[in-house]
Amino acid sequence: MDISFFRCMLNLLLPLLWILFRSYTCEIISDKASVRQNFVNKNDTYRRLWSVEKFAATICVMECVRDTECASVLYNKVTKVCQAHSVTLGNPFVAFDEPDTQYFVRSFGEHYIGDSCVTATDCWTINTECRQGLCQCIPGYSFSPKTQECKVCDQYDDKNFMTITDHYITGENMEMFSSVTLEDCKRLCLTRTAYLCVTFEFLYPGTCALQKVTVLDFPHKWTTSAGVDETLYSQRDCA
Ligand SMILES: *[C@@H]1O[C@H](CO)[C@@H](O)[C@H](O)[C@H]1NC(C)=O
Repeated sequence: MDISFFRCMLNLLLPLLWILFRSYTCEIISDKASVRQNFVNKNDTYRRLWSVEKFAATICVMECVRDTECASVLYNKVTKVCQAHSVTLGNPFVAFDEPDTQYFVRSFGEHYIGDSCVTATDCWTINTECRQGLCQCIPGYSFSPKTQECKVCDQYDDKNFMTITDHYITGENMEMFSSVTLEDCKRLCLTRTAYLCVTFEFLYPGTCALQKVTVLDFPHKWTTSAGVDETLYSQRDCA
């Protein structure tokens, strides 16, 4: 046998292996995640978990599947950026344009937190509701990316909050600050040491109130500010 025989075999085998590999990875993708059209050529950094370079979309999806917190991934075919998110990205209108981007949603990411909705029945995750067109935690319950639900936390996360507009709890503030930004208010909450700050409220333009309670502790003190003041109630995620 000469070398051309091997070359010939190789030429026959390689495409075969490639086809097998492709159908194998496609199966993994269709089993574990599906392609979403709403974020094609879009990008959004909302609740981004990590970002790594992967040479193919299928590998990117597999990387997401290995992470229990990863609900969806954006993959850029040109830069090879594989970007994981702890939620499903349901609002392409707040996203920015990013050519050559594909979007994949895990099976558990369907009707999950962040996904678009019309009524509460579109939101399938425990303790969620449809708010402003997106599935979000019912006020008082915190997002728990690890257990993929909204719940009362055992332990709190050190960076993320979920926000509710035009609502606040009356008379339970631990501390108040004025002339601060929304970012400052969040940082103040995260760095309290005398007590565990669980929620913060922001009254535009610059008033910040920190609390160690949630609306579940004081449902009768849950007040709407709709049409009067512009307020935000932010509740800390679970670790
Ligand atoms: C999305 O945008 C961020 C910030 O500009 C960038 O770092 C990231 O690579 C982009 N992601 C994708 C998938 O292109």
